[in-house]
Amino acid sequence: MRKNIVAGNWKMNTTLQDGQALISEIVHMVQDETTGPAVEVVVCPPFPFLPAIGKLLPEGGQFHLGAQNCHQKESGAFTGEVSAKMLQSVGCEYVILGHSERRQYFREDDELLSQKLKAALAAGLKPIFCVGETLEIREQDETFNFISKQLQDGLFHLSNEEFDQVTVAYEPIWAIGTGKTATSQQAQEVHAFIREQLARAYDAKAALNTSILYGGSCNAQNARELFSQPDVDGGLIGGAALKSRDFTDIIKSF
Ligand code: G3H
Repeated sequence: MRKNIVAGNWKMNTTLQDGQALISEIVHMVQDETTGPAVEVVVCPPFPFLPAIGKLLPEGGQFHLGAQNCHQKESGAFTGEVSAKMLQSVGCEYVILGHSERRQYFREDDELLSQKLKAALAAGLKPIFCVGETLEIREQDETFNFISKQLQDGLFHLSNEEFDQVTVAYEPIWAIGTGKTATSQQAQEVHAFIREQLARAYDAKAALNTSILYGGSCNAQNARELFSQPDVDGGLIGGAALKSRDFTDIIKSF
């Protein structure tokens, strides 16, 4: 069954101490205030903070630890890199792959991302695989073609069993960190399209069971409207994940 998921991507923000204070506040607020439908919360701090932040997440509950990236190889002479197996060994369950910032600033292409997906799955991690178009692509009316290619080249090489572990995130690049959110109709349209592509590549059941998250200036004010769309199963949150009140309100938006 597909799950409601709110994932907080802290990107390259906070110190360890600020991060610990932030997650402690979030855990308390969520535990005190949430009464609605079940939501899985995935917290994705920077690599060095993972074990310490993981320790502050209540065991066996709705909170899960995730990383923002991993290397495609299991181990070896790759100075400065972090493998999926290392992430698993410090308590990560999820890993974000294919975020547009990784694609843009670190030249990660679909070929590399398919290797990273394999590595993450082999280590037992659940990938959150991101897709999304630039403003230019949207204005050229090429959004669907572009996203279909990202899915085809990056994701659809996975077997059915592997694909079962994947969450997809739709993040229109023009909406990331810009304060310009996709309307709920725009989000729903692309999410429905993605689900259709998943059904074609795998089957209807797999498509129905996959959580598809929206990301891009999602905040406490617009989350409810976005999450009320039939194919929007939650959010991948950047800026608002760094504010305990806002992030908690987003979690409460189902
Ligand atoms: O991973 C999160 C997304 O890039 C969204 O970031 O909420 O700051 O726009 P944002």
